Amino acid sequence: MDDMKGIKTLNLKLTEPEKLREQVRYYFHQTYSIDEKLYDSLINDETFYLRADPLRHPLVFYLGHTAAFYINKLIIGKVIEERINPSYESMFAIGVDEMSWDDLNEANYDWPSIPNVKRYRDLVRERVDRLISELPLDENGIGWNSPWWGVIMGIEHQRIHLETSSVLIRQLPLEKVRPLDFWNVCPKAGAAPQNELLPVAGGKIRLGRDDNSPWYGWDNEYGSISFDVKQFEASKYLVSNAEFLEFIEDGGYTQERFWTPEGWSWLSFQKALMPRFWRKEGQNYKLRLMTTEIEMPWNWPVECNYLEAKAFCNWKAAQTSLPIRLPSEEEWMRLRDSHINTDQPLWDVAPGNINLEFWASSCPVDHFGFGDFYDLIGNVWQWTETPIYPFPGFKIHPIYDDFSVPTFDGRHNLIKGGSWISTGNEALRDSRYAFRRHFYQHAGFRYISSPEPVTLHDEPYETDPTIIPWCDANWGDNPLGDKHFSQQVMETLQTTLKKLQGKKALHLGCKTGRLSFELARTFAHVTGIDFTTRLIRQAIQMHEKGFIRYIRVEEGEIVSHVEKHLKDFALQDVADKVEFWQADVSNLIAKFTGYDFILAVNAIEEAIKPRRFLEEIHTRLNSGGILVLVDGYAWNPDITRAEDRLGGFRKDGEPYGSFEALNDILDKEFELLEEPRELWQTLRQQQRLHSLKKVQLTIWRKKA
Ligand SMILES: [Fe+2]
Repeated sequence: MDDMKGIKTLNLKLTEPEKLREQVRYYFHQTYSIDEKLYDSLINDETFYLRADPLRHPLVFYLGHTAAFYINKLIIGKVIEERINPSYESMFAIGVDEMSWDDLNEANYDWPSIPNVKRYRDLVRERVDRLISELPLDENGIGWNSPWWGVIMGIEHQRIHLETSSVLIRQLPLEKVRPLDFWNVCPKAGAAPQNELLPVAGGKIRLGRDDNSPWYGWDNEYGSISFDVKQFEASKYLVSNAEFLEFIEDGGYTQERFWTPEGWSWLSFQKALMPRFWRKEGQNYKLRLMTTEIEMPWNWPVECNYLEAKAFCNWKAAQTSLPIRLPSEEEWMRLRDSHINTDQPLWDVAPGNINLEFWASSCPVDHFGFGDFYDLIGNVWQWTETPIYPFPGFKIHPIYDDFSVPTFDGRHNLIKGGSWISTGNEALRDSRYAFRRHFYQHAGFRYISSPEPVTLHDEPYETDPTIIPWCDANWGDNPLGDKHFSQQVMETLQTTLKKLQGKKALHLGCKTGRLSFELARTFAHVTGIDFTTRLIRQAIQMHEKGFIRYIRVEEGEIVSHVEKHLKDFALQDVADKVEFWQADVSNLIAKFTGYDFILAVNAIEEAIKPRRFLEEIHTRLNSGGILVLVDGYAWNPDITRAEDRLGGFRKDGEPYGSFEALNDILDKEFELLEEPRELWQTLRQQQRLHSLKKVQLTIWRKKA
């Protein structure tokens, strides 16, 4: 086999540092070279400036991009200090997916000459090679936080572009490209086999890479989630060109009823009559490959976008009266795992048309068998019904913070399984790539039959600037470096709480829920209440899903993505004792009663009618019950009208504070147990901007 083809992603946990160093060097150069081998398919330098796809940069960008990426990432990671060519490293930095912020107006680019870009590539190659010689490496190998991670990231990134650029080359005019022996087309083609549905047993499936995996992974692969997949039936083969032709000939591209609204609008805009790489000449169909066009190989897998695959499934469902659809990510994985127990770094020979181990094109759908099925991996990617989402435990790599997050928008569907040119991380079981549903890759599909609905995962990041400070105040670190506010409250109440083990607590003004969960360590039952739905929603998500996500502003446009888990606070085992409700503390419904303990945090200053709240709170407490008020009395005229404030004005000519008012109002039903305590409560707005509130904690006992 050619040296550049069929190599495997590295075992980064290798305990022989010098051996690993040489493996990285080899992997790097092979990757760099095969990337250049791909561009040898262009007939001349002018071709680099053609726009193969109106929504993508010309190939000159990608020629520069895969090299500049190393330097940009290594600089962000502080692994190197000096740039090689600042203007190239800016010009070749962004614009890969069609994102609204990518600047694709070609008038704004003055692309350099190809010899200059190639010279730049050589300089980067030398620099990275030198770095590979110099970077310290020990027997712990290369981990997520290692400076080496940026080097491996650069290599794996280049391998992704090897594939995406091959798709762009496939869209260039035929006369602008040339076939090379290196990129060998599969010679096998013929009539397609009859497809059929075969059973797949249900069972448990866990998605997400093992934390001990020795192979490079992108951010979206981390974390984990489990499913109990119900049994379903799946098509034996990927959908072949012949099977897809039936859909076309039955008027599939002209009948709106088969298409999703998004699909129909794409179709109307594109005026598509068949998949993009098909061409009809008289009654004859041809198929465009990367650098050639061939007679339609009817037994090769069809390549289409998600929207076309989905329309086909709807047509097939109508034809068969079966619940035909694309598989979800977990169903796809269930089918894969029930027939494959190896992975790219472990196999001697690929079990399918993948990793450039066979051809530089698709091959017949009945060539690579896996038990009863064919092409469970390889040949072409397979569209799924699942829009990409972060697994619980997802974390962002600091040197590539926007690899996945912009795609968590419900509009990028996962493709699985890899194609003939998927190498490196792309060829691993756990890799997750997602594209816009109208996008073309070397991707097709397998359909399944299942009455089960597809689970969509839409736990987005909270971005509301009025909510995020409270996510942080409850679940973030204390920016003063001192104990967290919740911990301070709990410590102050330590003695009081000792006598209340196993009783019932009410927490008013619970915000995003932290103190309610903390109270559940003591109490048998805790009710958390807040007036703001958007706040309580976070508490409820923490309760139901065990985590919350939010994006906080660091400085200007720079943000950080935060994910906090109940288990990080060892609260997961008490969560069952907590319930959350949205309600107005000035006007609580009758059912919230019979408590032994009530904690009200910032509830007075946030009450519309604070007096009413205080006057009736005793009705909710059992005799001898404890009321704890934590408040800053920072009256907000938008919430509490001036005449409804408890204090903060002159009474009989003398200043009258809210603490005095508390004494006056509560005196009848309560006794003050201790001297008030003072605590600092912080609210983070930005990295260097926090507001600090001095709150008073008072403990009251209901008179018997
Ligand atoms: Fe890229």
